[in-house]
Amino acid sequence: MLNKVFMKMGFAFIESGVYVNQFNASSLHDLKKFYDLELEIDQGNDFRKRAYLKLQWQRKTKQFYPTKNQNYFQTADSNTVDGGKIRQFKVMDKKILNLAIMQSLIHKNLAMINEYEPLLPYDTLTIGMHFIRYIVNQNNASFSSPDWLHKDDEPLVFIHLVELSRTALGGDNLIADDTKKIMHVIRLENDMDTLVLNKAVYHAVTPLGSRQGTAIRDVLLFTIEPHYTQIETTQDKAA
Ligand SMILES: [Fe+2]
Repeated sequence: MLNKVFMKMGFAFIESGVYVNQFNASSLHDLKKFYDLELEIDQGNDFRKRAYLKLQWQRKTKQFYPTKNQNYFQTADSNTVDGGKIRQFKVMDKKILNLAIMQSLIHKNLAMINEYEPLLPYDTLTIGMHFIRYIVNQNNASFSSPDWLHKDDEPLVFIHLVELSRTALGGDNLIADDTKKIMHVIRLENDMDTLVLNKAVYHAVTPLGSRQGTAIRDVLLFTIEPHYTQIETTQDKAA
């Protein structure tokens, strides 16, 4: 999946069926409950809620575990609005890792990551899981941060759709070339439809609106980076 064509193209669409099967489909409902109950308003922005969970993965043992240090660092280059500082988000309840759909998602992603050539030199990778809800009604709009074309710090990012209201407007993913010319518009529609990106392209998501009443767009951003790029403490280990 994440082959040389992907490396050059910079993005790939992964359909929901890769993650969802007859054995784990019912746990999608439980995942949505975590979004209802666990997320907190994001930095005073009433239209965006989030929680975060950082894992570490060892290539040798194929084991992953939550890290003790759950701070999130993003450079100012990749986010001119909120970057350049350590941010502490609400830490997601680790019980979420027990859900069958989360096990499927993590194992499928790690199987792809394990083969991904640019990351082969790294024995320890940091996985960032950002659980984000955009929530709006017809009188407002919700934006991502950063709100327009950018490249993330992380060399690989999976954007999993968890839920999109039928009444939602916008929330489309844009892919642009190095001159920031938009080349593709992708709409994640089914639960667990996924877009995976590397740093060969710029990307953005269009603001979310609502045709009527409250609309939500729930996503799970699953980022991968070499262990050393997040600022860690020496005690950073399994927790
Ligand atoms: Fe991004």
